Amino acid sequence: MSYQRQFARTLRVGVVGVGSHAYRNVLPALHFLPVRLVALCDLDEALLERTALEYDVATNATYTDAGRMYAEAGLDAVLICAGPRQHPPLATAALRVGLHVWMEKPPAMRAAEVEVMIAERGDRVCAIGFKKAYMPATRKAKELIALPEFGALRSLLAVYPMTIPRDGAGVLERGDHSNWLANGCHPLSLLIALGGEVDEVTTLLGAGEEATGVVHLLFRSGASGVFHLAGGSPAGYAGERYHAYGEGRALTIENSTKVAFHRGIPFDYQTQREFTAPGTESGSVVWEANHNLATLENKALFVQGMYNELKDFCDAILDGRAVDPGTLEFGLQVMRVYEAGLLRQGRPVAIEETTSRGAG
Ligand SMILES: NC(=O)c1ccc[n+]([C@@H]2O[C@H](COP(=O)([O-])OP(=O)(O)OC[C@H]3O[C@@H](n4cnc5c(N)ncnc54)[C@H](O)[C@@H]3O)[C@@H](O)[C@H]2O)c1
Repeated sequence: MSYQRQFARTLRVGVVGVGSHAYRNVLPALHFLPVRLVALCDLDEALLERTALEYDVATNATYTDAGRMYAEAGLDAVLICAGPRQHPPLATAALRVGLHVWMEKPPAMRAAEVEVMIAERGDRVCAIGFKKAYMPATRKAKELIALPEFGALRSLLAVYPMTIPRDGAGVLERGDHSNWLANGCHPLSLLIALGGEVDEVTTLLGAGEEATGVVHLLFRSGASGVFHLAGGSPAGYAGERYHAYGEGRALTIENSTKVAFHRGIPFDYQTQREFTAPGTESGSVVWEANHNLATLENKALFVQGMYNELKDFCDAILDGRAVDPGTLEFGLQVMRVYEAGLLRQGRPVAIEETTSRGAG
């Protein structure tokens, strides 16, 4: 079943924060989920009332105080889409009155706040909407990486238009909501979804206060992850891509819409004369979104994982299981890597240093 009107079992949900992202993506996604939208909350009364009218939510089910909505609206679950400063207090208050909680990324400003939510979670489902970890392309990549023929994952590369503030410690001390938090958590969540737990982070920066460069992740498995900060990308350029390399196999995700599994060809350096090989057992296999039909699988809500993250949350509640992968523990990993990326700047070695050592 894919449409709200088809589901036999539904959850009563309320939404906190009906701003830009909620309006463009979260509320529309509800059409395809086993939910009934019964209450809305926002600090902006005009926005709240107009949104309630559009979604046929009764005026007496609109709230400017989330605590009141949690207490009065008879909810099973709340979807929170307010921002990382608001997510921890709004989520914690909901968990304390027994609601299941889904919140947008980023879950918080600091990793320690996620630990507080873990302590408050009890037996409730509490999920974070890391859409890139839920993309169909990411799910396919995970499946391919798990194939015996892929071998052990050796390295990952992410390319994403992004910079990092040079004064990382200051960002954390002041509580700045930098783009490294707002959008850096997207590729970080994908890298962690594919590579698993991270043990060590090193950042190497180019010039400037908002620097391009490289964030290196050393995964617990021993695999190496490189996040290329492609600041300066042309606006709107679909340059986001990911590569994963195993032992004799590789895969790529391009523009969220295309996954390729690279098997190579029988190859001999001295004698190879053609780049093709007979049959279909070699070369690359490509999966690409079909944009010719008005079906669901090519809509941004589905391609970018926003449907999957919310469906996983609903199913986890209805089936009495945990979400996968958008747990608070997963969010804690992302936030720790986010913080480490700000703090752990690698020691540059000046070229002169090598010369003088050699001479010495
Ligand atoms: N997954 C994505 O692709 C994506 C894209 C954009 C934004 N986001 C995330 O969505 C969240 C919201 O971003 P946005 O761009 O919609 O911001 P926004 O400012 O447009 O909307 C936030 C809304 O939350 C309301 N709000 C704030 N505190 C509140 C409180 N205590 N109680 C009730 N309402 C409250 C505000 O009044 C506002 O209307 C952020 O966490 C952002 O990172 C995700």
